[in-house]
Order: sequence, then structure tokens, then C-alpha cells
Amino acid sequence: MKFIDLRSDTVTRPTAGMRKVMYAAEVGDDVYGEDQLVNKLQARVAEMLGKEAGLFVPSGTMSNQLAIRSHTQPGDEVICEYDSHIFNYEGGAPAMLSGVQVHPLHGDHGILASEQIATALRPKDHHYAQSRLITLENTHNRAGGVVYPVSVIERVGDFARENNLLMHMDGARLMNAVIASGIDPAAYAEPFNSVSLCLSKGLGAPVGSILAGDSAFIDRAHRFRKLFGGGMRQVGSLAAAGLYALDHHIERLAEDHHRAKMLASTCLELGVLENDISWTQTNIVLLTFPRGNTAQISRELKTIGMLVSVVNDHRIRLVTHLDFDDAELNRAKDILKRVLG
Ligand SMILES: Cc1ncc(COP(=O)(O)O)c(C=O)c1O
Repeated sequence: MKFIDLRSDTVTRPTAGMRKVMYAAEVGDDVYGEDQLVNKLQARVAEMLGKEAGLFVPSGTMSNQLAIRSHTQPGDEVICEYDSHIFNYEGGAPAMLSGVQVHPLHGDHGILASEQIATALRPKDHHYAQSRLITLENTHNRAGGVVYPVSVIERVGDFARENNLLMHMDGARLMNAVIASGIDPAAYAEPFNSVSLCLSKGLGAPVGSILAGDSAFIDRAHRFRKLFGGGMRQVGSLAAAGLYALDHHIERLAEDHHRAKMLASTCLELGVLENDISWTQTNIVLLTFPRGNTAQISRELKTIGMLVSVVNDHRIRLVTHLDFDDAELNRAKDILKRVLG
């Protein structure tokens, strides 16, 4: 049986076209800066985000952690959202790799407003860790792919500048926000000192993220990439996959968003959609089960061909992606109705 895999948008396999460019890629040693495709990819993403430079790294986690390490000193404080990836799913890395304290705040559907961040700012007093960095996640994964309103980001940016704070965007799924909102990636990125963009999620590349920022910042991050063991050698074939993803897989994210809406409306009919359907803004659908039986439901779905993510005992997550087409959408809706109807 071929499973419909809606656990994450990271489960996609390279398409035939992507494999072709990967096979044909000219490669060089990227630790020596000699892989021309890596250089091209870094420059292209930096330009797209309106930043001076980019750095190709193995994962979104490394990209976020390089940003934290490069922006902070041990003992600093990093303000983030309570459900953010950085706070929940990166293994405690801010404490371990950067020696910083994380200050999580509960956002509204993942969104932090500047007024709320203001309440978290530490006084300039020797008793306190010093607030240094604000991180925002766009789209917000655990909130269900929610898109940050650009006006909110701009106000947080103004607040950060007035208070000498730095800003990092975990833009693992930034291009989903771009396609959903029609807002230019550089406009989203403008208030941020650094942005992390993943190629291996909705964009369908097998590996890799780009960290972008000004040249001095990327120079620091480059040194920490080596120190964290993320210097890679002949990775031009992976950069070729990334470039292919940028050429072919951005506009089509609209299809993933449409299919997510279709799944959300089935879940709404079945009474299991977690939020109002207007919160299904991109490619993530959250299902809620107040009786706390999500592990059992996930097993039942698997038995008849569908894989989902169990977030906790009352929430299941579905994520649409490049390898999920209309035929699978119809099958997925039937499976959901059979198990949950
Ligand atoms: C919002 C967000 N940031 C960062 C990451 C980390 O990416 P990676 O799995 O490549 O480390 C993920 C992974 O799903 C994510 O959803």
C-alpha cells in the first residue's frame, strides 16, 4: 500500500527534473569557497531577501542556531514565541551552543506583537540577563502555518531598533507566507538582521537552508558553521537542487495551500478542525481531539493508508506538499471521513 504521507512537508523526494540537475552539477570544495553552485545559491537567496550575503547550511536548526550564536554573547537573552521551533524542537541548543537564556512569550496564534515584547524587555541592571535578540517564526509551524502580518513585523522592527535589539526570522516556510500574502520576500525580511530560509520543506529540495544577513554577520556565522561541524565539501549537487527548487517550486506552493484548505474544510465538517478555517492560511492543518486519543487515531489512519503527525495527546497535524496531489487529496478526504466520521 502506498501511504499518503502528511506528516510534514519535509517528506518529499526530489522530482525527476531536480535529480537531473543534481546529477549534472559541477562541484567544488565549498570549505574552500570553490563550489560555484553553492556560491550562486547563496547570492541568489541573499538578493531575494534584500541582504548582503548568504550561507548554505545543512538544516534549518543549524541556520537558526548559527544566527543565535552570531548575534549574542553567553548570558544574553533571546525573546521568542512559546510554540516556536527554536524553543521547542531544537534540543535546547540556544543554552548549549550559545549559552543564552530563552525568554518565551505566548503569542496570539503564534504572533507576537511589539507591545507584548516590550513587557519582556529586561532593565539595564546587573541583576538581569540582557535582552539582545528577538526571533519570529514566519510561517508559524506549531500555530498551523500562520502568516505574520507584515505590519506587525514592521512595528516589532521599530521597537527593536529603538531598544538596540537584533532581529532574526526563522523563515523555514517564508515562501509559503510570500505566496499566501503576495508580499515580497525582501519586504518581510527588511526589519530583520538575519533570515533563515529552508529549501527542504515546501520547496522540495532534499537538504539545506540558507542563512542571510549583512556580510559581517555572515562572516561570523561562517566561522561558527565550521565550529559546529557544518562545513561541507562537494555539495554543488545539493545547491543545484536548491536552485531548481527556487526556479520551479515557489509559485506552486499555492496548490499546497489550496489542498490544505480542502482538507481543513473536510475536518471542519467532521468537527475536528482546531481553529476557525481562516487560520488555515498555508500548508498546515491542525486537528483537535479533546478526548486525548490522538495516538489511537493516528494508528487507525495508518492502517488504511495515511500518515499524520501526532503533536500531543489532543492535536494532530497534516501538512500538504509537492508529493501530495489531487488524487491523494480525494483519498485523504475519504480516509478522514472513514476514521473520524
Ligand atoms: C519553523 C521551523 N524552523 C526550523 C525547522 C528546522 O529545520 P530542520 O529540520 O531542517 O533542522 C523546522 C523543521 O520542521 C521548522 O518547522
